[in-house]
Amino acid sequence: MKKDLFDLTGQVGVVIGATGVLGGAISQALAAAGASVAVLGRNTQHGQARVAAIREQGGTADFFPADALDRDSLRIAKEKIIQQWRTPTILVNAAGGNDPKVTVTGDLPFEKIPTDDWRTSFDLNLTAGAFLPCQEIGSAMKDAGQGSIINIASIAAHVPLSRVVAYAAAKSALLNLTQFLAREWAPYGVRVNSITPGFFPGEQNRRLLFNENGAPTERGGAILNHTPMKRFGRPDELAGAAVFLASPAASSFVTGMDLRVDGGFLAQTL
Ligand SMILES: NC(=O)c1ccc[n+]([C@@H]2O[C@H](COP(=O)([O-])OP(=O)(O)OC[C@H]3O[C@@H](n4cnc5c(N)ncnc54)[C@H](OP(=O)(O)O)[C@@H]3O)[C@@H](O)[C@H]2O)c1
Repeated sequence: MKKDLFDLTGQVGVVIGATGVLGGAISQALAAAGASVAVLGRNTQHGQARVAAIREQGGTADFFPADALDRDSLRIAKEKIIQQWRTPTILVNAAGGNDPKVTVTGDLPFEKIPTDDWRTSFDLNLTAGAFLPCQEIGSAMKDAGQGSIINIASIAAHVPLSRVVAYAAAKSALLNLTQFLAREWAPYGVRVNSITPGFFPGEQNRRLLFNENGAPTERGGAILNHTPMKRFGRPDELAGAAVFLASPAASSFVTGMDLRVDGGFLAQTL
């Protein structure tokens, strides 16, 4: 067996959405494994806080402001990262989510879903969530002949969860794109995989999962009932999956795969 299977020393990881909960936890995991980490997102305050947390634990990180819907801003961030370190070898696409005001359609019948809301969800979860970052940053990895791309999918990509139809459809397309790119870029040394997180309480879904008194909402309770482990995930529980997929030593023959970290949610039927 190879030594140091999970050592990322010398790697440069770009985590888009590292300003958020799951991307933030993944960026800390990559840094703890030895990678230099570029924290990307729009929110400078959150980005700087994440960089400070990584440096506090002895890691290397910097914040590069970027809007993943804006190709130029991704290109500028990429050029700065290359100048500061080198061509990225890891790209984590964690920008995405549900805006309760827009993409959670609730009990709205399908035929009433506003086209703009549908587009907003696809823009965020597919275009910013993978398409543009893979074109701008993934292609540099392709040119350099090595890299690992990790797209963050969702349970909703596998089964059409109620209330979030546009999000589910966009995340489902993300899985398809992951496999497409895995095939197209395998000859260039770039592996493309995804992680499907189960339910991890964060800012964007807290109100969906918990009442103000901290007890689970009806939906939160239904999720727990359907989860064999009977609990929600903790962001740090994505660390192992992310480092495994990022590491060329640990997952050199793994591409086009989706790794579920969901407490068994998708294995549960009756
Ligand atoms: N939490 C869960 O239970 C769960 C479950 C399954 C999948 N996921 C997925 O995991 C990912 C992270 O979710 P999270 O729970 O950590 O949510 P979060 O804390 O809201 O993080 C989402 C991040 O996306 C970034 N983002 C949004 N639009 C962007 C843009 N145009 N350009 C750059 N960054 C953008 C935001 O950063 P800025 O505001 O700084 O731009 C934010 O930090 C999402 O793809 C989500 O769908 C989450």
